[in-house]
Amino acid sequence: MRKKIAVLPGDGIGPEVTSSALKVLNIIGERFGHEFTYEEGLIGGVAIDQTGNPLPEETVELCKKSDAILLGAVGGPKWDQLPGHQRPEKGLLGLRKALQLFANLRPVTTFSSLTEASTLKSEVIEGVDLMIVRELTGGIYFGEPRERIEKNGEEHAIDTLTYSKSEIERIVRKGFELAQVRNKKVTSVDKANVLESSRLWREVAEEVAKDFPEVSLEHMLVDNCAMQLIRAPKAFDVIVTENMFGDILSDEASMLTGSLGMLPSASLSATCCGLYEPIHGSAPDIAGKGLANPLATISSLSMMLKYEFGLEQEAEVLNEAVNQVLSNGARTADLAKDASHALSTDEMTERVIAAL
Ligand code: NAI
Ligand code: MG
Repeated sequence: MRKKIAVLPGDGIGPEVTSSALKVLNIIGERFGHEFTYEEGLIGGVAIDQTGNPLPEETVELCKKSDAILLGAVGGPKWDQLPGHQRPEKGLLGLRKALQLFANLRPVTTFSSLTEASTLKSEVIEGVDLMIVRELTGGIYFGEPRERIEKNGEEHAIDTLTYSKSEIERIVRKGFELAQVRNKKVTSVDKANVLESSRLWREVAEEVAKDFPEVSLEHMLVDNCAMQLIRAPKAFDVIVTENMFGDILSDEASMLTGSLGMLPSASLSATCCGLYEPIHGSAPDIAGKGLANPLATISSLSMMLKYEFGLEQEAEVLNEAVNQVLSNGARTADLAKDASHALSTDEMTERVIAAL
């Protein structure tokens, strides 16, 4: 198989973790006889510095003519003082919108060798295997109006949470399709006791459920879900939810695995190839120090192999390699009990390559 991958390293630890992950992908290519080629594009702060624009048009074009996209992370204190529409995050939000990357898949699986890295009790988290399906191109992160206004002599700020029926339908359907080949349970998360958009969400979820008689549907309010994720995470299979709720719940769920540096994601499009990225940000506090955990990005490539290229065996082999290095005690600083014995980004990458 020959595939062309657009690589958008971005800011902070983004370049470190993407370059690690590509080394690993090259080994998969060699071992299974695939040819992966890469072309880099600019996004986020680095794009602002070089072009004045967090999402240059060439980057969108590059992504559109590629077979898949690998992204590191964007943002950092250097650009924090810029106005909202010029910030690095605008580059990523813009790309999600331009490519209609509406479905963000965030699997949360605990590694039995890592349960000690979590702050939660091992009996609670051992064997967790859930998938958060987050809507990515609608909701309050995109709704209009968003503005500052003067009202009654006081400054007000407005954000808007809006969803159309079709936007809800396609993401809920994605959740059901995934549940169908997993453990056949969908938890639709909303705030239907307060929000009108959530009440529409519930109605649509009920309609979609009729097409999946083998899959059970439960509705859960987001505040309860935040609590249940910590109390009994094994009760979940697929969680499907709107953009901001999914953003928050998935960071919370990352702590079931012990570190934000472990969690991969896939963002699937209605019209274009998918984008694969770790769920963490640019981690400015550790950038450039060789401390970043590359496993979230490496596991994102495993999702790319599976969801974009249909290479299930290759994906499985890669997951197994990650599992093996963790079982053998390999730990980056975010996972290590004793930081003085932690592996660097490169050392962890080498361990995965050796396991492959
Ligand atoms: P963050 O995810 O960058 O970092 C949170 C904490 O987790 C930090 O202590 C960091 O060192 C640690 N961490 C994150 N990834 C790690 C890894 N791979 N290995 C080891 N430790 C890791 O979130 P934060 O600090 O809130 O945001 C930093 C910047 O990243 C901000 O500018 C934010 O806007 C941006 N951001 C970008 C995202 C993206 O590009 N998708 C997502 C989230 C935040
Ligand atoms: Mg987030």
